[in-house]
Amino acid sequence: MDRFNIALDGPAGAGKSSAARLVAGRLGFVYVDTGAMYRAVTWKILQLGLKPEQTEEVVKAARRMNIKLTPGPEGQQVYVDGMDVTDLIRSGDINRNVSQVAQIAEIRELLVDKQKELAANKGIVMDGRDIGTKVLPDAEVKVYLTASTRERAERRYSELVNPTLTLDELEKEIAARDRMDSERCISPLAQAEDAVLLDTTGMSLHEVVEAVLELCRSKVGGGR
Ligand code: CDP
Ligand code: CDP
Repeated sequence: MDRFNIALDGPAGAGKSSAARLVAGRLGFVYVDTGAMYRAVTWKILQLGLKPEQTEEVVKAARRMNIKLTPGPEGQQVYVDGMDVTDLIRSGDINRNVSQVAQIAEIRELLVDKQKELAANKGIVMDGRDIGTKVLPDAEVKVYLTASTRERAERRYSELVNPTLTLDELEKEIAARDRMDSERCISPLAQAEDAVLLDTTGMSLHEVVEAVLELCRSKVGGGR
């Protein structure tokens, strides 16, 4: 099989985006970071002075906005109504509000439809929380990436240039977001029944990428 789809799910800092981008590069596939779409909606509503609990207004704003994802040299570029928000959507403010926005049923419907459209042609590596369970239930390869909460926090901490919070605070923030994502009613973060669990605690990114490619080889004969 030449082209197939890969679904990567897991909690924050598990290495989904990094692994997805590198695996897509190795296979010549397109990488789609669905978390960036929820972050983009959150950025827009905060810009408009709205709070996630103002559901009706939030949904209206999300319906009006135009989110565009394009492949860039360092990963996926994200545009909202023509403005490049790639870096802006990674702020602490967005981290603290995004899971609440992602609980809104209409927002999920809107974004899941877009995500399905993006994957209409095979050859997609998509990462998120509900890709294997909801967005691409027929993906040929499904991986649930995880790692200990501490290690995930350490990975994220080492990315910060000027940390404004301690490692312990970051770990708590990540754990709170994971809890919200796992406990929500609609499409919670969960391992699909047919997904392979990969605990990456103590693994390098290179080892994770090789493990995913090996899985592709064994499942569909791809992943050269
Ligand atoms: O990069 P990180 O793992 O920290 O988060 P992300 O993938 O950018 O996702 C940000 C948030 O969007 C998650 O915490 C979820 O609340 C939400 N999300 C979701 O609900 N469903 C997805 N498919 C992707 C993200
Ligand atoms: O997308 P997600 O939130 O799951 O994680 P990420 O943003 O791809 O990865 C968080 C950080 O951990 C990045 O700086 C990676 O380089 C690093 N990392 C990793 O992704 N996988 C490992 N096995 C080790 C480190």
